[in-house]
Amino acid sequence: MYKIIEKKVLNKDIDIMKIEAPLVARNAEPGHFVILRVDKEGERIPLTIADIEGNNVVIIYQKMGYSTQLLGKKEAGDTIEDFVGPLGQKAHIRDKKHVIGVAGGVGSAPMLPQLKAYQEKGVKISLILGARNKDYLILKEEYEAICDNIYLATDDGSEGTKGLVTDVLEPLLKEDDTIDHVIAIGPVIMMKFVTLLAKKYSRSIDVSLNPIMIDGTGMCGNCRVSIGGKTYFGCIDGPDFPGEDVDFDELMSRQSYYKDEEHVCYLRLKQ
Ligand SMILES: Cc1cc2nc3c(=O)[nH]c(=O)nc-3n(C[C@H](O)[C@H](O)[C@H](O)COP(=O)(O)OP(=O)(O)OC[C@H]3O[C@@H](n4cnc5c(N)ncnc54)[C@H](O)[C@@H]3O)c2cc1C
Ligand code: FES
Repeated sequence: MYKIIEKKVLNKDIDIMKIEAPLVARNAEPGHFVILRVDKEGERIPLTIADIEGNNVVIIYQKMGYSTQLLGKKEAGDTIEDFVGPLGQKAHIRDKKHVIGVAGGVGSAPMLPQLKAYQEKGVKISLILGARNKDYLILKEEYEAICDNIYLATDDGSEGTKGLVTDVLEPLLKEDDTIDHVIAIGPVIMMKFVTLLAKKYSRSIDVSLNPIMIDGTGMCGNCRVSIGGKTYFGCIDGPDFPGEDVDFDELMSRQSYYKDEEHVCYLRLKQ
């Protein structure tokens, strides 16, 4: 059992939690994730390690469906059943001079440790944070501490540019030739269009793929992703990959395989 040390509500859909897990904390690197089960009957859900504080692992989760809603019902002092990690490959921290991160929604959680690692290497950091409205622009203070430039974009224009992260990214890639690398983390559709822009303006790009994962150890094959015609497992080969040749359309279609079952579980929780 793993104890919840602290829980904060960031907005109506997103919480941040600190879980006591010394072994995970000791071995975690940027890009790693955990797979947790809330209770004995729970499904396994992957969540990125957003930060480490001593023996505690910080996770930030959006309450999407059954399991994340169930996790959101837990409070500080409660326990969760399993917390396995660190899993996956650590993120590629490349030799670059000016990196721009593009984070959509809860993608700003997995982005944070990667940009921190670049900042510690002395790399210049720009960031575009995008969300549906200003309440969903999370971790601004944490990013202000490490970024040279921050640009905001919201769907409704409640803060920053009204529009998509790609509306902000394109002029920057066009005008600032010091930017030599892009990292995109967020909804698959966003990562697809950010990758197209990076390719158009000849910048390298890394993306963090989020296929449905079950065991997280390369055994079930559920997290297959196609990159340049080859098959990779998101859990053991990723989740971070160069974006240029990722088959984003296949990933989007595979993500909705269990939509009917997920909806039934969600309704059960609401009863
Ligand atoms: C490596 C990795 C890191 C992730 N990090 C974060 C994070 O830091 N914060 C965060 O909010 N979310 C993260 N996710 C997504 C998170 O795992 C899903 O939102 C969660 O599993 C949804 O479960 P649910 O039962 O609440 O919702 P459901 O209703 O079951 O599913 C909602 C949607 O979430 C996705 N999903 C469902 N089950 C899984 C699964 N087992 N594995 C992957 N995706 C699934 C599917 O696209 C599905 O349509 C990450 C996913 C991966 C693969
Ligand atoms: S989650 Fe089973 S092989 Fe990756």
